[in-house]
Amino acid sequence: MTISMARNDNKDEILRLRLRMTAFLLSHCTLIMHILIYQFQFGGDMCGIIGFIKENCLLDVYKGLELLEYRGYDSVGIAFNYCNQTKIIKQKGRVKDIKPKLNGYTSDIAIGHTRWATHGKPTEKNAHPHKCRYFTIVHNGIIENADSLKEGLIKKGYKFLSETDSEVIAVLLQDCFTPDNILLGIQTALSKLVGSYAVAILSEYTPKTIYLAKKDNPLIIGKGKDFYCFASDSPAIVGYTQNLYRMKDNEIALLSNDTIELFDNNLKKKKTVFHKTYLTVDNINKGSYPTYMLKEIFEIPRAVKSTINYLKKLRDIQNTCNFKDYNSIIFLGCGTAYHAGLFAKSLLDGVAYIHTQCITSDEFLYSSINLNKKTLIIAISQSGETADTIGAIKKAKKSDAKVIAITNVPYSTITEFSDYCLLTLAGVEIAVGATKSYATQLIVLKYLCGKICGSNKLINELLPQEIQQVLTFNRYIKDFVYKNDFENLFFIGKGVDYQTALEGALKVKEISYVYSDASPAGEIKHGPLAMVGAKTLVVCIITKEIYLKGCLNAVNEVKSRGASVLVISPFEKISANQITIPKSLENDRSVLSVIPLQLLSYYLSIKKGLDPDKPRNLAKSVTVG
Ligand code: G6P
Repeated sequence: MTISMARNDNKDEILRLRLRMTAFLLSHCTLIMHILIYQFQFGGDMCGIIGFIKENCLLDVYKGLELLEYRGYDSVGIAFNYCNQTKIIKQKGRVKDIKPKLNGYTSDIAIGHTRWATHGKPTEKNAHPHKCRYFTIVHNGIIENADSLKEGLIKKGYKFLSETDSEVIAVLLQDCFTPDNILLGIQTALSKLVGSYAVAILSEYTPKTIYLAKKDNPLIIGKGKDFYCFASDSPAIVGYTQNLYRMKDNEIALLSNDTIELFDNNLKKKKTVFHKTYLTVDNINKGSYPTYMLKEIFEIPRAVKSTINYLKKLRDIQNTCNFKDYNSIIFLGCGTAYHAGLFAKSLLDGVAYIHTQCITSDEFLYSSINLNKKTLIIAISQSGETADTIGAIKKAKKSDAKVIAITNVPYSTITEFSDYCLLTLAGVEIAVGATKSYATQLIVLKYLCGKICGSNKLINELLPQEIQQVLTFNRYIKDFVYKNDFENLFFIGKGVDYQTALEGALKVKEISYVYSDASPAGEIKHGPLAMVGAKTLVVCIITKEIYLKGCLNAVNEVKSRGASVLVISPFEKISANQITIPKSLENDRSVLSVIPLQLLSYYLSIKKGLDPDKPRNLAKSVTVG
């Protein structure tokens, strides 16, 4: 049993692979991956940085920050060249709060930062950019030796205005400045830093240049028709350009209007080779939808179609991963991605020659699971930037285990660490709650598990249409939510439907803050039933005939305690409140049955007047461990 995927291995193979991939990409626009392996640094704030050298680009930076808000949104700032000086506008609060303050300014060169404070309060002073005389920076990462560096710089007479570790970079840059060789000064300053950084620098000495450098934190450069841009993640800039370069550790890049110069850590010039990414953003705005979440749910048919097309082309790639080499498979992920892993595990249950587990990435980090060359890790992450999952992959790579990444973001950190990569083609997902990415993860995982089992019937071309049919229940679900008042929700199901129930319960918690839980249908009588009353909604998912009898028992048990019941099933007339999904292929029914749960959580949130795109206390990808 083999499967076509991209593989990271030794340098020669990588080079050959890159050449083949480039050729393939040009004609088929297919799988992209990157090959660096680096140490991921835990700690520090979760941040996003972005910048443009482009005519009148302040609004572009602002829009990019909105797209990076999933990395955090408690303070925000922009620095730009204005009349040959660096002007800084920053504040505590959401990205949208800064927009009015940009009125009246124009600039062709700007950098921005959105922050989610985990070390140091979210205040205006702590918000980036930070400036020291002629140098201004935005930084993502953590400077571990900031305190000792500060001590030395204070002795030299420098003053610090914030409590952040990042400010020390601006001060160091000023201190190391060499008038005849600014690049050397920057390199000297960076060499003093211990920790991780993706940093963008503006200098009033060279007001038409942005300097970029990175170590252990992602930084992507985009090349447009007559402009350059950069960001912590590609989703923030793919709306502008799909030609991307992922910077390597210790490189320094100089962006000016129409040129890029790249240097290694000895300041030797390097060639920059841009790759075309798969990732697309259908429409950066919400279009006719009131929220990104609703828009993204309605994009599921198209996302699934793109993913199916991608998988069909993937069979043509010659690189192989021989599943016969493995006797143990571990699925890893966090939140929704973990639930996708549970779905995949359930597909492999019963395959005699493989022991299968699914574990959350953080638990995996603390587990003593035996890893060896017969272990295959399948790590799932929409963003490709979740620190727990990156940490778990890193742990796995220390053994002889091989890693397949499944991600929505080519050129993300996870693709760097993994041996193989499969993409979901959901397009950029902005709302914190994962919806279209989850649907596409299930498609890719079904395909992958099918390959592991040696099956060929892996793609259901009718699925996008079947999803459209499920989406016609949008109005029904909205009315159902608005007509009723629920204090708590239980999601129940058997087998693979229990995994869907877990995802439903998570979505309701995340988006609506209504108490919700999931239970295997047969387990409800062993505890959760004590919580069931007249204000409870029990959502029962039944996608297989063999589950019907057991689920109906559970439904009767909760009904007799006064609970309302909503059934999601392809089998008709089970309950007065029912969403009848198409009788698709059995393993595709999980994609269909989760959509009503996403819509349910959405309307519970909207009914309470909440913002489902940005739920409190959560970030879309958690880039700290
Ligand atoms: C965060 C989000 C979840 C998401 C999880 C994994 O916790 O709030 O909605 O499922 O991260 O994200 P990933 O990008 O790794 O799939």
